Amino acid sequence: MSSSNAIGVFDSGLGGLSAVKEFLHLLPAEKIIYFGDTGRVPYGPRSREIIQRYAMQDTSFLLTHHVKMIVAACGTVSSVAGAMLEEKLPVPYTGVVNPTAYTAVRKTKNGKIGVIGTAATVNSHSYKLRLQKLNPGVQVFEQACPLFVSLVENGIIHRDDQITRLVVRRYMAELKDNGVDTVILGCTHFPLLREAISDYMGADVTLVDSGYETAGYAAKVLRENGLLNEDASPKQPEFFVSDTPEGFESVAGLFLGRDMEHTVTQIDIEQF
Ligand code: DGL
Repeated sequence: MSSSNAIGVFDSGLGGLSAVKEFLHLLPAEKIIYFGDTGRVPYGPRSREIIQRYAMQDTSFLLTHHVKMIVAACGTVSSVAGAMLEEKLPVPYTGVVNPTAYTAVRKTKNGKIGVIGTAATVNSHSYKLRLQKLNPGVQVFEQACPLFVSLVENGIIHRDDQITRLVVRRYMAELKDNGVDTVILGCTHFPLLREAISDYMGADVTLVDSGYETAGYAAKVLRENGLLNEDASPKQPEFFVSDTPEGFESVAGLFLGRDMEHTVTQIDIEQF
C-alpha cells in the first residue's frame, strides 16, 4: 500500500463531513475520498443486518479507489458493524466510538457523561460500554435523537431556527436535568447542530465531536503505520453520493465553507 493513496471516509449522508472538515485542517496533504449514502439515509432506525450490508457495500466502493485506510465516520456503522469491518477490511480501519469515548472520559470532571446518537447506536450501548471500560466510575446517560439526522439532511441547522431549538430542547432536557458536564455527539451528523445544542446545554457543558476526534485518531494511525503522504502539496477531496448531488452540495458547501457546485458525483451503490 502506497502512502500516496487516498483515505476513504464514509457515512450515511452528510454527517461524515464533520470528520472531513478536520481532515482538511489537520492533513491537507492527504487525498480524501468521501462517500455519503444519501440514497439510503438514515441508517439509524435500521436493523443490524441491513446496516452491516450497507457498510460492506460502502467500503467495497471505497476500496475500488485503492484507499490506504477506511474511516467509518458514522456512529451507527461504528456501533453495529465496526467489529465486522475491522476483521474483514484489508486496510487499517477506524470507527468513531473508541476515539470519542477516550476524549470524553478525559474531559468530564463530575463523571456524568451524556451520549446522544441514533437509535441503533444507543440500543447497541457502544459508547456506554467503551466509556465504562475506560473508567468504571463514570455515569452514562444515553438519548437517541433520530430527528437530528433529518434536520441536518434538510439543512435546518441554524441555532436561531425555532424548529431546531424545539427539537434540541425535547431531546436534551433529561440530560440537562441529570447534570451531565460532557456530552458525546455520538452521531457524526450532530456536530452540524453543535451551536444549537450548546446554546441549550450552556457553555459549561463540553460537547465532544465524534467526527473531529476520529480524524485526529486516524492521523495518528496513519503516522504509526508510516502511511502519511510524503508529497506535501495540498490535495482536493473527492465526493460521491448515492442520490442526486444537489442537496448534498449546498449543505456540504455551507458546512465546509467551500463552493461544492458540480464537485459531487452520483454512483449506484447497489452495484457493490
Ligand atoms: N451519521 C450517522 C451516525 O453517525 C448516521 C445517521 C443516520 O443515518 O441515521 O450515526
